[in-house]
Order: sequence, then structure tokens, then C-alpha cells
Amino acid sequence: MRKALARQLAEPHGLGGRLVGAVLNRYNHPSMATAAAELALSPGATAADLGFGGGTGLGLLLKHVGPTGRVHGVDVSTTMLDRAARRYRNQLDNGQLQLHTASMTQLPLPDDVLDGALTFNTVYYLADLDHALSELRRVLSSTGRAILGLADPDAMAARSFAQHGLRLRAISDITDMLAPAGLRLTDHQQLNHRSETFHLLVTEPHTDLAGAKPVE
Ligand SMILES: C[S@@+](CC[C@H](N)C(=O)[O-])C[C@H]1O[C@@H](n2cnc3c(N)ncnc32)[C@H](O)[C@@H]1O
Repeated sequence: MRKALARQLAEPHGLGGRLVGAVLNRYNHPSMATAAAELALSPGATAADLGFGGGTGLGLLLKHVGPTGRVHGVDVSTTMLDRAARRYRNQLDNGQLQLHTASMTQLPLPDDVLDGALTFNTVYYLADLDHALSELRRVLSSTGRAILGLADPDAMAARSFAQHGLRLRAISDITDMLAPAGLRLTDHQQLNHRSETFHLLVTEPHTDLAGAKPVE
């Protein structure tokens, strides 16, 4: 049961996956809304939700970039792709939204295209997080901003499903991976989410690797 839940969270599939997507949307909407606002996107901007799951982040980004903007959704789960395609059919039809079945380690996006990106609750599933962060930097414009959202690793460790294949890295281990990927931490917000801490790691590109300084 716990193993099955861990598998569904890693890549939601089938009927159970749809249910997981709906629960994730309800659970994560408040912190995603905070992060989407923090991206400070202008109308007409281009943004992405990487590992969008139930798709609530896509809706938030669509609202922020407005009708002249563009949102990319990337996920490995075809169940989540189908769900988002149904939910945002109009925005797909008019080109405001593009959905991609792809991994965060090989983003199907050109260089420097994104003004903002969110990736929430995905780091636990990325064995090669360093590679995914480099890809994130590649697609982010020089003035762009990307926010990684993740539950507190200690709270996650206490959850029984987390023993089944999730990679629970310390926050400092993740922030240490930013500079080599070409990103710098500009803010670390800790939200109180249903009496647990939820971390928002706000990042921006840096060009001077030698001068990059982690922010706590
Ligand atoms: C726990 S869910 C989080 C969904 C949503 N971001 C949220 O916070 O509610 C993890 C999502 O990441 C997706 N995912 C896992 N590994 C991925 C990868 N390598 N590239 C893109 N998406 C991935 C899964 O399919 C799933 O939809």
C-alpha cells in the first residue's frame, strides 16, 4: 500500500493516479500560489511547471502570464498529461499552454526561453538532480527566476511511504547543487503548511560561478 502510494507520487498512473493528482492539487495549491506570485511574471511572459502532476500550478501560471503569455507543462506521466489536456483544453487549443511528455533531465525547450519556472515536490524523484538543475538553468532566461518547492526532509522521513524509493536530501545538499548548475539562491522561504514546514528555494541564473554564494 505504501509502496503503491510512493509509486503513484513518483509517476501517477491510471485511475489511482488521477485521484492522487486531485489530492495533490488540493494539498499544494496554497504554497504553489505563493510561489507563482513570487515569480513576479509580467503579462505576456513565458513560464513552466516542471513535474506539474495534478496541474494546479499550470492554472496559476496561466493566470499570471495572461492571454498573451505562454505556459509549458512538463511531466513524465501520460495520465497527468491527459488530465491537464482535458482541464485546460481551451488554453491548449489557443496555444497559451503547451504540454510535453518529457523528463526534467532532458527538457524539450530551447535555451533561455523561460521567464519563470516552478518545480514542486519533484526533487525526491530525481536521481540525477544535478542534471535536472543544469537543464533548468539552460532553459531559464538570464533575468528569469525558478522556484523549487519541497516539504521539509525531516517531516518527509517520518512518512511511511517515503521509505520506498524517495530521495530525501537535506536542504543544504540541494542548495549546494545550485552553483555548479549555474543557479544561485536568492531567497529561502519557509511556509507553515498544515503545521509542517514547506520550503521555497528561489533561484536565479548566475554567470560568475566563482562569485556564486549560497544564501541561507
Ligand atoms: C509528487 S508529484 C508533484 C506534482 C505537483 N508538482 C505538486 O506538487 O502537486 C511528482 C510529479 O513529478 C512528475 N515527475 C517525476 N519524475 C519526473 C521527471 N524526471 N521529469 C518530469 N516529471 C517528473 C511525476 O510524474 C508527478 O506528476
